[in-house]
Parts: sequence; structure tokens; C-alpha cells
Amino acid sequence: MAWELREAPRATSPDDAAAWAYRGCAEVERQVALADLGDADGVPSALDVVVTMNEIGYQRRRRVVAVADDGDGRHVVGSGLLVVDLRDNPDSAFVQVAVLPAYRRRGIGTALLAWLVAAARDEGRAVLQAEVDVADEPGSDGPGVLTAPTGNGRVRSDVPGVRFALAAGFELALLARRSCLRLPVDDAVLDRWEADARVVAGDDYRLHTWRDDLPRRWHAGYADLEHQLTVDEPNPGLDLEPERWDAERVRVMLARLLRQRKGFVVTAAEHAPSGRLVAATWLEHGMDAPAFSEQDTTVVMPDHRGRRLGLLVKVVNLRAHQAVWPGAERLWTWNNEDNPHMLAINVAMGFRPAGGAALFQARTADVGPARLA
Ligand SMILES: CC(C)(COP(=O)(O)OP(=O)(O)OC[C@H]1O[C@@H](n2cnc3c(N)ncnc32)[C@H](O)[C@@H]1OP(=O)(O)O)[C@@H](O)C(=O)NCCC(=O)NCCS
Repeated sequence: MAWELREAPRATSPDDAAAWAYRGCAEVERQVALADLGDADGVPSALDVVVTMNEIGYQRRRRVVAVADDGDGRHVVGSGLLVVDLRDNPDSAFVQVAVLPAYRRRGIGTALLAWLVAAARDEGRAVLQAEVDVADEPGSDGPGVLTAPTGNGRVRSDVPGVRFALAAGFELALLARRSCLRLPVDDAVLDRWEADARVVAGDDYRLHTWRDDLPRRWHAGYADLEHQLTVDEPNPGLDLEPERWDAERVRVMLARLLRQRKGFVVTAAEHAPSGRLVAATWLEHGMDAPAFSEQDTTVVMPDHRGRRLGLLVKVVNLRAHQAVWPGAERLWTWNNEDNPHMLAINVAMGFRPAGGAALFQARTADVGPARLA
């Protein structure tokens, strides 16, 4: 079987003829998730790929595909993605490789990664980060189990992506737990959680819930929350620096969600005495994938932690979500295993572990041609 690598041409709509490679990437990632994880919730659609490839203000993305001709016509059997931040993290790049199960162990993954490493070098990035999604996280140490250096989070070493990453010169940094909450949550349960949280939060906080947009006057305040998240979220072992956020970046994010046909509800807590936003949480719902939703940012400003604001905004937001999208059956969230407070809130809300992601890092120079030959 002959195959070759092609850089994905630019396209501005999933229906463009030139979007064949973007559609191919989305399909490869969907099939890989179904095969390896058992579901494809959250895998970018062809529209997501087109929109994110064309959002060039804060990140630059390049995609490469492996095209095979196996007598049955030419089709995309592997995909590679390089993401570089343009305003923050000037030294690092994120890489991702996926190969259809029937085409593995023929060197396609290695070739895709070599292409991405060369592209990362062209961008002057000295550090590479990569993520391997896994169907489950082992509960304890043992043979065939790799434990993150922090001691929190484990992954089976026989997962193909883990073998691949280690063989290529990456080191395991940490585990992110994927959890699922079955919807709907009973209203009486939400009422009880909200009442308990309000007792601790006291009277200083005014809650706001917005749908599919944020009022302009809150953009700068919301940007501060996003920035704080990147300051505080524990990412041990990954060289990540805080992201700079401002009102313009919030507007770019809102415009992107609109183009991706993603709705959202966000609940924020305003500290009434100061008029500042001090907590927020965000749930996203794809209009073209109505069976599930995804948790995005949840953050509480440092001075206001310990008052159940995290739980309070999440519960109020979940109630709003259930009213707007009653058909959603699953809610997904991701938390680093080194983030015990966020995990505790989610466990208390009924989220159950459902796999995760192993995060790897390497010096670009250590994933050089010698290792990849
Ligand atoms: C990881 C993945 C991309 C590898 O693709 P591939 O085309 O099979 O990769 P290669 O054939 O180039 O394998 C390169 C080396 O990785 C290691 N490797 C890959 N899969 C392996 C497996 N199932 N068992 C043991 N080693 C494996 C081997 O060292 C292999 O070299 P070898 O075949 O000479 O022994 C593919 O399994 C995949 O799509 N997995 C799901 C997505 C993922 O986890 N991506 C990695 C994150 S960036």
C-alpha cells in the first residue's frame, strides 16, 4: 500500500473542494476515538477544523495528512496537527498525531510526527507537548502501569499512543481525568446544592447567567478570570506560562464559538461591594451534536476561594443548561489529577471517571530525526 504526506490546503468552508484534507482529519480523529475510547463526543467536526484553522489571531495551526492509495481510491488515513500560541508560550508547541487502526505500525505516525517536529523547529519552538487520550485510568500502581511524576494519575503503558510517545522521546508529565455526568440532574438535588452553597457564600455575591453571548461591559472582567485560570491551574511538568487575556481576546473567542455553531451558558459571580467578577463557569453545547455538552472554564479569584462559589456557579449554570438544552444526555469535563479542589467539586456533583488524557512533553531537539528515523 502506497501512502504519502500532504500539508492540508487552506479552506474556508467544510463544503469547499479544498477542504478534503480538513474533512479527512475530522474523520480520522472520529474513527480513532470510536476505536480507542468507545465514543467520539468532543472530537472536532469538519466545521471545527475549518474554523480553528482560520482563527489566526492567537494561535497558528498547521495540519498534515497521510493519504493512502490501497487500490480502493485515495483517502486520508492519518492526521497531524501543530498548534503554536502567538501571544503566550513562545517556546512551546502542541503536536497531535492520529492514524486509523487498520493503518498502524507501518511508520505513518512516525512520518507525521517528523513533519510536525520540522514545522515546530521552523517556528522556533524548543519544547513539544502532546496528549494521548485513553479509555481508562488504572486505579493503582502495578506492572504495565506508568505513574505520573507527581504520583497523581496513571496510564497503561501498552496504549499505542503511550508506546509511540515514549519511543519518540517524550516523557509523561501528568494525567487529566475525563469525567461524565449523566443528565438531567434532578431539580431537587440542584436546589439542595445551591442552598448549601449559598449559606457559605453569604450575601456579597450577585449571580449573572448569560446565554450565547457576554454583555460587553463584562468582557474585560471575564478576561481577567480566564487569565487567572492559566495562572492557577496546576500543570506540573508542562512548560506553560500564563496566557494574556483582554476584552478583545474574549470577543475573538465569542466570534469563534458562533462560527462553530456552539451555544453556551455561563454563570458568573459579581462581588457586589466591588463590582468585580470573581467567579465564572461555562458550559458549551454544539448545535450539531445535541446529545452532549462540555464543561469549559471554571475559576474563582484567589481572594474569594473557600466560599463554595465554584459549586454555586456550577449548579446555577447547570440548571440554566438543563432549561435551554433539555435533550442533552451527557456532560463531559476534564481535570488534571493534580487539581484536587476542582475534582472534589465535580465528584460531589456526580461526575464519574470516564478515561482521560496522558500529557507528554519533550525538548524538540530530543525528538529529532535520529529517533524518528
Ligand atoms: C500513536 C499512533 C499515532 C501511532 O501511529 P503508527 O502509524 O502506528 O506509528 P508508527 O508505525 O510510526 O510507530 C512508531 C513506533 O511507536 C511505537 N508503537 C506504536 N504503536 C505501538 C503499539 N501498538 N505497541 C507497541 N509499540 C507501538 C513503536 O515503537 C513503533 O515502532 P515499531 O513499529 O518500529 O516498533 C496511533 O496508534 C494512534 O493514532 N493512536 C491514537 C492517537 C494517539 O494516541 N496519538 C498519539 C498522541 S500525539
